[in-house]
Amino acid sequence: MTSSTSLSRDENGTRPPDPATAVVEAAGLGVAYGRVQALEGVSMSLLRGETALVLGLNGAGKTTLLKALAGLVEAGTGTVRLGGLDVTAMPTHRRARAGLSLVPEGRGVLPGLSVRDNILLGLHTAPRRRRRSEHEALDWSTAFFPPLRAKMKQDCSTLSGGEMQMLGTARALVADPKVLMIDEPSLGLAPKATATVYQALGRLQEEGISLLIVEQKSVPLVRDPDRVVVLRSGRVVRELRHALPSPEELSEIYLGGETEKEEGAL
Ligand SMILES: Nc1ncnc2c1ncn2[C@@H]1O[C@H](COP(=O)(O)OP(=O)(O)OP(=O)(O)O)[C@@H](O)[C@H]1O
Ligand SMILES: [Mg+2]
Repeated sequence: MTSSTSLSRDENGTRPPDPATAVVEAAGLGVAYGRVQALEGVSMSLLRGETALVLGLNGAGKTTLLKALAGLVEAGTGTVRLGGLDVTAMPTHRRARAGLSLVPEGRGVLPGLSVRDNILLGLHTAPRRRRRSEHEALDWSTAFFPPLRAKMKQDCSTLSGGEMQMLGTARALVADPKVLMIDEPSLGLAPKATATVYQALGRLQEEGISLLIVEQKSVPLVRDPDRVVVLRSGRVVRELRHALPSPEELSEIYLGGETEKEEGAL
């Protein structure tokens, strides 16, 4: 087997993971909220160290996909695998231990707690044998998000939107995820703050962390996404490899034009 880059931290004395095994994989995933079919037959996968972007308009099913992967909503059909292991019936906290971290829509930070304490909340999810010390976890995670360093003692509700996004991501990061899923990191941010957040995400990419990022618009700031999946009405209507759709192409896909011939192309 060929060796893969940055395997060392995830190796835990057992067999090294096969680089060809998807770190996360959805196959034929369907989720319904009562009569609303929010996801239908969604399949996608992400290999170690890859970045995937999931795009779609309001109500396309993006958040539902992340929730189904994380185990926050039940999949009516289909399977979720982590590193080849079927986790479809596994509860959220165990999936998190197995390496799936979610930065939810709205960032999920806890007002009333300091920046430091919010970050440390994520540490308890990290598998015990790989858990960093508090000092190490704070130092390592904030290296990706330098603006947080001067604000460690501040109540997190005093942060700007961009800093809040960085905080939610830092917290998810100290859980030592194999896959970091981020729901609309640019939501509500000014272009400058979005750029700063994506700069930090670029550093995570360089570190070899697998990222699954959800956005409504094609964000050209995502560096070289390995996979782009476009959802419409709960279905995958386009998949691209190593390319972002142009804004025109994306509008066309969102509107439903010229997509069917590409469906299932990958
Ligand atoms: N808890 C719920 N109960 C009922 N319907 C829901 C629930 N959550 C989501 N839905 C519906 O499921 C569909 C997909 O919603 P979802 O939140 O996954 O979309 P989204 O792509 O994340 O949208 P947005 O860009 O607005 O965040 C929508 O029709 C939504 O109204
Ligand atoms: Mg959403």
